[in-house]
Amino acid sequence: MSENFEPTNIIVTGGCGFIGSNFVHYVVNNHPDVCVAVLDKLTYAGNPENIAGLPADRVELVVGDICDAALLDELVPGHDAIVHYAAESHNDNSIDDPTPFLRTNVEGTFCLLQAARKFGVRYHHVSTDEVYGDLALDDPARFTEETPYRPSSPYSSTKAASDHLVRAWHRTFGVRATISNCSNNYGPYQHVEKFIPRQITNILDGVRPKLYGDGRNVRDWIHTDDHSSAVWTILTKGEMGETYLIGADGERSNIDVLRAILTRLGKPADDFDWVRDRPGHDRRYAIDSTKLRRELGWEPKHTDFSEGLDQTIAWYTENRAWWEPVKAATEARYKAQGQ
Ligand code: NAD
Ligand code: DAU
Repeated sequence: MSENFEPTNIIVTGGCGFIGSNFVHYVVNNHPDVCVAVLDKLTYAGNPENIAGLPADRVELVVGDICDAALLDELVPGHDAIVHYAAESHNDNSIDDPTPFLRTNVEGTFCLLQAARKFGVRYHHVSTDEVYGDLALDDPARFTEETPYRPSSPYSSTKAASDHLVRAWHRTFGVRATISNCSNNYGPYQHVEKFIPRQITNILDGVRPKLYGDGRNVRDWIHTDDHSSAVWTILTKGEMGETYLIGADGERSNIDVLRAILTRLGKPADDFDWVRDRPGHDRRYAIDSTKLRRELGWEPKHTDFSEGLDQTIAWYTENRAWWEPVKAATEARYKAQGQ
């Protein structure tokens, strides 16, 4: 049976990152009785600007590491839920150096689960569709909650490991936990290392975009606002021990997305460079989110990708001060990797 859970005081890990900060805004804007403690280490991917201006009586930033058990012992009591977004999240970085992925994604999840267990706190785990590996371009199938785990990259294998920990802590220790596995997010505040913002900001900087492999890899795009509403739905209505896939039927090839960005920014559709492919590059992701829609009544609102892309391009165009400080270092890292 689904439980109707009404949290008032939640911890959001990774709340200064792209998707976690969107969720913090979502909660503040839509649930006026809920206060949020953001626990974030402020790695290269975390930016306090992402939650700047939110009311101080409702949002508190705690700068710290999810692997710090003593900090969790202090922070977790008095809260009624942990919504866990914090992660090392970028595949290319995990190929360059998997070490922080093991620590944050696996050990960090372990520490949070131990705290949830110790203090009897509800736990929601934010995971990825990449735990299921990839699909062939012509495969009629999409991922469901029953698809076997088959991760390909150091990043996705650590996310898969963390999902397994959550299921074990639920079954063995009774932790009140749910898991969501979402597809590729896009929208404002995404780090410029990721595909869509990298290409937009390259063009804005007068640099040609970079496409991996043959460009035919498919990603299933969802606006990050829709990811946030789905996580809230699962947190408050989800059945304990269950997994829900989040997706918005947004399959598109990388080359189609890149050409759409180029055209919108007034460039010829072939004005890009082909670069070295990502080792182990997953071919296609596709989500069947029927369970979440049927059982919990969630629906995405941003189903017009074209409109969402226009808004995202406009945001990066108008917010150069947000991304310019990290752009050069990001591109230097890609250059060293031949990408
Ligand atoms: P991000 O890289 O933008 O943000 C990660 C945040 O976690 C940053 O604020 C960072 O400072 C923080 N963090 C990292 N290590 C930490 C640690 N040890 N302790 C505390 N904080 C730490 O990531 P994102 O793209 O917003 O992804 C958020 C979550 O959503 C991740 O768990 C990711 O696996 C999952 N996810 C992402 C996508 C996507 O398309 N980006 C899709 C599905 C699922
Ligand atoms: O599917 C969910 C996952 O989506 C999340 O779990 C990850 O945290 C998130 O980073 C994302 O992973 P991807 O590897 O799919 O996203 P990325 O933005 O890195 O790349 C998207 C696609 O674009 C992928 O096929 C690789 C390709 N690409 C990427 C970059 C950065 C390029 O062709 N050129 C590029 O410059």
